[in-house]
Amino acid sequence: MNTAANLSVEIINAAPSSADALSATAVCVFTDDPRLPDAERLDPALREVCEQAVASGEFKGEEGTTLLMRAGAEGGGLRRVLLVGLGTRADFGAPALRPAAGAAARAARSAKLKELHFFMPAADDAPSLARALAEGAHLGLYDNGFYQKKDEDDRRALERLRIVAGEGADALGAEVVRARVVAESVNWARSLADEPGLSLPPREFARRAAEMGAEFGLRVETIQGEEIRRRGMGALWGVGQGSEEEPALIVLLYEPEGIDDAEELTAFVGKGITFDTGGISIKHGLDMYEMKSDMAGGAAALGALRALAGLGVRRRVAAVVPAAENMPSGKAIKPGDIVRTLAGHTVEVVDTDAEGRLVLIDGIAHARSIGATRIVDLATLTGSIIVALGSHRAGLYSNDDPFAEEVLAASRRAGEPAWRMPVSDDYKKLIESPIADFKNYGGRPDATGAALLLSKFAADTPWVHLDIAGTAWYDSPRPHAPKGASGAGVRTLVELLSGG
Ligand code: BES
Ligand code: MN
Ligand code: ZN
Repeated sequence: MNTAANLSVEIINAAPSSADALSATAVCVFTDDPRLPDAERLDPALREVCEQAVASGEFKGEEGTTLLMRAGAEGGGLRRVLLVGLGTRADFGAPALRPAAGAAARAARSAKLKELHFFMPAADDAPSLARALAEGAHLGLYDNGFYQKKDEDDRRALERLRIVAGEGADALGAEVVRARVVAESVNWARSLADEPGLSLPPREFARRAAEMGAEFGLRVETIQGEEIRRRGMGALWGVGQGSEEEPALIVLLYEPEGIDDAEELTAFVGKGITFDTGGISIKHGLDMYEMKSDMAGGAAALGALRALAGLGVRRRVAAVVPAAENMPSGKAIKPGDIVRTLAGHTVEVVDTDAEGRLVLIDGIAHARSIGATRIVDLATLTGSIIVALGSHRAGLYSNDDPFAEEVLAASRRAGEPAWRMPVSDDYKKLIESPIADFKNYGGRPDATGAALLLSKFAADTPWVHLDIAGTAWYDSPRPHAPKGASGAGVRTLVELLSGG
C-alpha cells in the first residue's frame, strides 16, 4: 500500500558523466543571486541550459515549482535536467529542501523517469539536508490511489534517487537509511488516514495497529468492545455507543530490550475517530467526507512508534489511541447526557460533535494509569484552530514550559511547525458545567476550551497537546503531495525522542 517503498536512495560524490534517457539531473534554483548554487559542479552543456532558463526568466526558482528540460550531452545524445525551485536563499534549509525534493520526485515520476541525480546544495548542515532530501522524495511519492485501477504504464515508478553530495558524501549514508524508516512510517500513517470510514472502523484500525506492532516487535495491549465500558471509560464508550461498530482503545508499547523500567515512559495519545458525523449534533456541508481522517492523530501516534522501533531508539514509548465511530442513531449519546470518565470525573456532553476531547480524556487517563511520565496528545480536534492558524501550523498547548519548548524545537527540526497557544484557568468558564464536573463545549475560543478540558485530565503529568486539525489534511493537491492525509505529527514525535 505504501507505494514509495520501492525508491532506492544512495549518496554519491559526483554525477556520472553519461546517463540514459530515463534519467534526469535535478538542479536547484534560488529566486535570488547566485541563483544556481551548483553551477560549478555541472558539466558545461547542462550548465548552459540551466543558466539560460534562469537568465531568460523561464524558471524563477519559486518554491514548489519544477521544470523538466532537454539538453544536448557532451558526446551527443540527449540528457534531461529537472530544475527545482527552492525560494529565497535566506529561507533555505532542511524544511525548504524536504518539499522541494518531494515536488521533484513527483515531477520525475509523472514524466516516467526512472532515475534522478539530485545535486544537493552545499551547506554546513549536510547531514540534515541529506536526510530531508531523501525524506522528501519518499514522502512525495506517496500515492493514495489505492482504490484506483492502474495499468502497467501508471505503475512505472521512479526507481532510484542518487544524491550528488560532493565531498563528505560518505558520511551521509546513515541519514538516508534513517530517512527511509521515518518516511515509510509517515506514509503508513497517511495510508490509514486516507482509508475511508467504511474500511477502517475501530476494530480494523486496531487490527492494522496490531499487525504493525507484530512486525516491529511492539507489545499490543488493546482493549475492545464491552471491556471499555467495564473498565470505566465512559467517555470513549459514550462517543462510540451510537455506532454499530464497537470502540477500541488501541495500546502499543515499545520497550527496547534491556531498558530500565524506571526510565521515562513517553505516551503518545492520538485521537482515533474513524469517522466523525458529529453524532446527534450532526455535521452539515459538503466536506463531511474529510472526517474519515479524524483518526489522523491516532495514526500519527502509531506511525511514530513504528519509526522509533524501526530505528531502534533506546527509549520507552507507548501509543494510546482511543478509537470510535461518532454516529447518530437510536442508541447514540445525546446533547445534555453526562458521561463518567476513567479518571472518575463526569462530563456533560453539550455537543456530541465535540467528541474528540471526550475520547482523549479516557486515553490520557489510561496513559497515566500505565505509568506515562509525560504525554503528547495529537488530535484533529477543532475547527477553531484552523480559524486561528490555518494549515501552516499546528496549535500547541502545554502545562509544562520546558516540555513545550522541547516539542516546539522537535517540530521545527521536523519541518512541522507548531505555534504555542494559551491554556489556563482564565478560560475556565468554557468547561464549567452547572450539573457535572465539566462540560465538553462552552463557546469561543473552542481550541483553548478543548485544551483546557484535556489539561484537567493530564493533571500533574507533563503534557503537550497538538491540535492538528489544520495540518493533517491537504484540502488540495500540493506539488509535493496529493490531496489527502499529510501524516502530520509523526516526524515531530520521532524528532522528540531521537533527534537534536
Ligand atoms: N473533528 C472535528 C474537528 C475538525 C474540523 C477537524 C475540521 C478537521 C477539520 C471535531 O470533532 C469537531 O467536530 N469539532 C467541532 C466542535 C464544536 C462542534 C464544539 C468544531 O470545531 O466545529
Ligand atoms: Mn466532531
Ligand atoms: Zn472529530
